[in-house]
Amino acid sequence: VPRRIVVSCRIFPDLLQQLQQRYTVVDNQANAPWSQDVLRTRMSDAEGALLSPYDRVDAALLENCPALKAVCNIAVGYNNIDVAACTQRGIVCTNTPDVLTETTADFGFLLMMAAARRLSETERFLRAGKWQLPFPLDAMTGADIHGATLGVIGMGRIGQAIARRGVHGFGMQLVYHNRSRLEADIEKGLQARYGTMEDVLRQADHVVLVLPYTKDVYHLIGARELALMKPTATLTNVARGGIIDENALADALEAHRIAAAALDVYEGEPQINPRLLALSNMVMTPHMGSASNATRRAMCQLAFRNLDAIFNGHRPETLINPEVYGSR
Ligand code: GLV
Ligand code: GLV
Repeated sequence: VPRRIVVSCRIFPDLLQQLQQRYTVVDNQANAPWSQDVLRTRMSDAEGALLSPYDRVDAALLENCPALKAVCNIAVGYNNIDVAACTQRGIVCTNTPDVLTETTADFGFLLMMAAARRLSETERFLRAGKWQLPFPLDAMTGADIHGATLGVIGMGRIGQAIARRGVHGFGMQLVYHNRSRLEADIEKGLQARYGTMEDVLRQADHVVLVLPYTKDVYHLIGARELALMKPTATLTNVARGGIIDENALADALEAHRIAAAALDVYEGEPQINPRLLALSNMVMTPHMGSASNATRRAMCQLAFRNLDAIFNGHRPETLINPEVYGSR
């Protein structure tokens, strides 16, 4: 009999059909939200799950899923999964790095530019019928990207891809912070300066957050950190919402202590802090970083290969918890 798997959110119909040829699929193609209780019920007799970052896999859920062998996130971030609890139960966890790196870097760069040049604000102005002549030369002027200093906090694959765009495409200077310093040849290629997070916040004209989310980085950027930034600087977040204290950000933007911000991620997604919604100097998108057609398809296909590999007794390509093989 085909193995039972769960697909928690809508995916490309042709890709779903491929899965249905080899598995019994309980899917959420209707895309009505599943509560945690519904997810737990749907997963209770499943052997595998293809999940989104909004599905929380915790010990309480696993308690109810005795047959579960594979948890395959269709995302690079996996802060929604209690990996230790999975490992303890011999459940293999995977994510989808690499295939989304360049697409997400494109989007991070796009958001940074949009914040700097006030794209959303100027479009709202035009759509509201407010554009009149004479148009003042100093109206809604923004900050340059070319030649400015790019500050990247979190220099993983995506951070490096954003840095390459800035340095090689836009002649930016690069200052970065990461838990570990880049290898010397990579640093040299980017003419990168390594600094503390405080150095990056102080020196950068445009700060981009691209670090993996853990409890350690909850509200990493708060009032104190925002106060270090230049009043002309922008802040962009394409990682996870919880990294920024949104009320502190709203305070800083309301008081023009920084120039602008661009967010693709929020602490309470899909709920948005109403103070952020009210700000004009903000660009806001609904967690779209990896959302190109080609990349979203590639993420699904990588997640499928991971699932198939796990069931065929092979190591999946993008394994999160290699310990699971050691402990079995
Ligand atoms: C999306 O946020 C991802 O982690 O891939
Ligand atoms: C995150 O996984 C990254 O590649 O930066």
